[in-house]
Amino acid sequence: MKRFLILLSLALVLVPAPAMNKARRQVISIETEKTSLVILVHPDGSLETLHYGGILATPEQFLQRKVNTEDYNGSRGATYPATGGRFIGEPALHVKYADGTHNTELCYTGHEVTRRDDCVTTTIGLKDPVTALEVKLVYDAYPKEDVIVAHTEILNGGEKPVELLNYASSSLYIDADDYLLTHFYGAWATDMQMESEVLGHDLKVIESRRGTQATQGNNPSFLLSLDTKEFSETRGEVIAGALAWSGNFRISFEKDDAHRLNILSGISPFASAYPLKGGETFVTPEMIYTWSGEGAGGASRNLHRWGRKYSVYGGGQINPTLLNSWEGAYFSFNTKTLLRMMDDAAGMGLEMFVLDDGWFGNDYPRNNDNAGLGDWEVNTSKLPQGIDYLARHAHDKGLKFGIWIEPEMVNPRSNLAHEHPDWVVQSPGREIYQARNQWVLDLSNPAVEDFVFGIFDRTMQLAPNIDYIKWDCNRVIQSFGSPYLGAEQDRFYVEYTQGLYNVMRRIRAKYPSVIIQCCSSGGGRVDYGSLRYCNEVWTSDNTDALSRVFIQYATSMIYPACIMGSHVSAVPNHQNGNVTPLKFRFDIATAGRLGLELQPKNLSSAERALVDRCVASYKKYRDLVFTGDLYRIASPFDGSYYGLMYVSPDKKRAVVYTYSIRFEPRTIGGKVFRLQGLDPSLTYKVVEQNVDRSCWWGNRKSFRGDFLMNGGFDPTLYGLYQSAVFVLEAE
Ligand code: DGJ
Repeated sequence: MKRFLILLSLALVLVPAPAMNKARRQVISIETEKTSLVILVHPDGSLETLHYGGILATPEQFLQRKVNTEDYNGSRGATYPATGGRFIGEPALHVKYADGTHNTELCYTGHEVTRRDDCVTTTIGLKDPVTALEVKLVYDAYPKEDVIVAHTEILNGGEKPVELLNYASSSLYIDADDYLLTHFYGAWATDMQMESEVLGHDLKVIESRRGTQATQGNNPSFLLSLDTKEFSETRGEVIAGALAWSGNFRISFEKDDAHRLNILSGISPFASAYPLKGGETFVTPEMIYTWSGEGAGGASRNLHRWGRKYSVYGGGQINPTLLNSWEGAYFSFNTKTLLRMMDDAAGMGLEMFVLDDGWFGNDYPRNNDNAGLGDWEVNTSKLPQGIDYLARHAHDKGLKFGIWIEPEMVNPRSNLAHEHPDWVVQSPGREIYQARNQWVLDLSNPAVEDFVFGIFDRTMQLAPNIDYIKWDCNRVIQSFGSPYLGAEQDRFYVEYTQGLYNVMRRIRAKYPSVIIQCCSSGGGRVDYGSLRYCNEVWTSDNTDALSRVFIQYATSMIYPACIMGSHVSAVPNHQNGNVTPLKFRFDIATAGRLGLELQPKNLSSAERALVDRCVASYKKYRDLVFTGDLYRIASPFDGSYYGLMYVSPDKKRAVVYTYSIRFEPRTIGGKVFRLQGLDPSLTYKVVEQNVDRSCWWGNRKSFRGDFLMNGGFDPTLYGLYQSAVFVLEAE
């Protein structure tokens, strides 16, 4: 079936192996500036991953090693282990053939290396001699960023259909004494929580079966610290991995009897035994890897640099500060309310106004969350002059204009639900459960794809210049199934996500410059798959500044700061968060893409003055947030302080954030932060932002980089929720 089954045969001209099962013993080395991934081709045609880590200048020396012909569980560090033959572990590939058999034994057929701009691609061909199943392992190496991106293409070379029971993007064998896994879990308003564990010999699985909002339970990413039981920001070998996929995923870690660890990553096979007809190819999502010898910080910076340059849509561009209407107005607004908010936004120096939920629906007006989704026409009683009028006002005030949609969803109380009940995700004869009073539209159906694209397209036509779309998605898939797919329900989860990407591709072809925020009840789609089309994410619905410390800290492990929508709210707001000072809230939010999520007219004049000041200073240093290198200088898990900094690529400028996040009687003095990433020999002038009296004795003085990194940067943060932001400029 359709679109993404690439019907090309594997026409790639591969360097042919002499004969099946008689390959030349050789190493294939995939390299970046500081890393090597070394794969050995055995004479029987099987592949073994020998090394992923620091660069090896002479990988061919592995050829002198004694050949290991047997292995108890048959893995022998297999580069892409398939169910069958000697192999009895967790497979990367498990195929069920038309005759009911399950055995696949992949043999090397050749490989080739191609270059495109900064990327070197190594493609390795494999084939099962009995069934004609073919596999291409594709590795894109990005030398400067030390990132290797792996994906797999599986061709049913036979005539009869097969079923893919497991079809991982990648398998990676690692050999170390200890493996400390750090991964990210969460829920609504507690997105991206970080936890670490030393891996034992049982199978560890990080998985999502949520369909949509896939990353709100677990994120498809991890850090793996090698040869240690302790997480370190600055020391030791760390491998980081992230899957570019916004649907069900599965990443597993299996330690074999030789204590090697196999990392398998890809689409979750849950309810998704994917059918492949003869001649069809399945292309997996990409798995992104990096390795660093400089701890978690080094691995994060590699991913951030790569993400900004090659993966995040519009990465490297500076996105505008904004006022979002949600927490300031919720569903209760009219034209007058919104005009006033825009005037205030412009007065505060913000650059965009975003109209959130509540602007649509007439027969079923969207005055709360139980009606209207699906009926995307402007609500004429709230907004009789239309969206165009609002957008013009924004533009006249020098603001950009953005608007919210939730195009994958439908309320039962809507015209759409009555007109197209067959477009709703459902299983015949069963109740279609509601969540947030809504159902999910079936994006595995091309007609629904067209409809969802049409929502975006028509919204863009509501005013001549819509600058920003907030794309929301407020529930997971339950009662799963597609009326469109009939008996082929196994395709559903995979094709839902592919349908979403098809829509996104069409949107980007037509609207390359609109800024898209990917929101999914907050951080339900924080992944490199979404970010290929979206400029940023709504990091979390939780805007409580203390909660944001942990959410943003964990998000920064894998994703660059330019994608983190980070807003200042009123306290306490609907989340009943901690009552933190306004400055503390700003000092947290300015570490990402700054926004406000409150009713400006409720600010006192003193608060308003602080807002104006914080917005103005942020605009002067935010290029560092969007394009600089992140150094985390104090972990919120380690004590009472938290700190981070962004350093310009030429190391001449930096912004440093420091916070006190827990109350402790400070009888023995404060915290000395050790700055990182500066040039030790440059002299920097240090200026604290947004205060009349600085909390550091060195404010407005100049210090060498080595002093700041090794010596005494000790701002006095003696009270709970004290914070200070410093800008450093080399003289
Ligand atoms: C969930 C989002 O995360 C919020 O920011 C807001 O847009 C609401 N949906 C609107 O319904």
